[in-house]
Amino acid sequence: MDRKRAAAERAIGMVRDGMIVGLGTGSTSAHAIELLGRRVAEGLSIRGVPTSLGTEQLAIKAGIPLTSLDEVERVDLTIDGADEVDPHLDLIKGMGGALLREKIVAFASEEEVIIVDDSKLVQVLGTKSPLPVEVLPFGHLRTARALETLGCKAVLKGGARPFVTDNGNLVYECRFKSIDEPERIEAEMHLIPGVVECGLFLGLATKVVIASERGIEVRSRGA
Ligand code: A5P
Repeated sequence: MDRKRAAAERAIGMVRDGMIVGLGTGSTSAHAIELLGRRVAEGLSIRGVPTSLGTEQLAIKAGIPLTSLDEVERVDLTIDGADEVDPHLDLIKGMGGALLREKIVAFASEEEVIIVDDSKLVQVLGTKSPLPVEVLPFGHLRTARALETLGCKAVLKGGARPFVTDNGNLVYECRFKSIDEPERIEAEMHLIPGVVECGLFLGLATKVVIASERGIEVRSRGA
């Protein structure tokens, strides 16, 4: 079985009747949405909170009843992908362009279950993937210059035809050699006016499901 699908299948096994489930964005999450739809068809009663407009469409197609963050007290469990996972279960997310809604939903979730294949594992964040940063269109070239003072090269996602997020913003992909102090980088990015959010997910993942050729491994925060 495809590794991404295998990871998704294990995470779906954590979903229980009555849960509010955060629905991630990306190719791995798409497997989870399809599999969850099948369980709903078999009688599982849940409501989903999508992290992007694309995911909302996939979930509707899969037959998953939807709600929104503002209609629920809490999200019990979110299943989402990631671009990098480090040994502390800290993440880079957002290369699919949905980091802002993904981070808001992750922050609201009791359990944030990340599903990846082993190609996403790194010792230090930023060594494989650039760090996506959502910025306001207003003055974005200046915002990009300010991002670069933190030691990265900031490239506009989509180039001449910029990618526009579900929130009407732009994304800069910030290439560092490595992100050795992710807390500092996140804090400093938040000080730049024009930065809406960055794709560092620190302390948010509670479990990471890793699929490799050896099988499935589930790592838990604090274990
Ligand atoms: C979407 O914005 C991202 O955070 C994705 O979860 C991440 O890019 C992983 O995507 P894949 O599952 O497609 O690898």
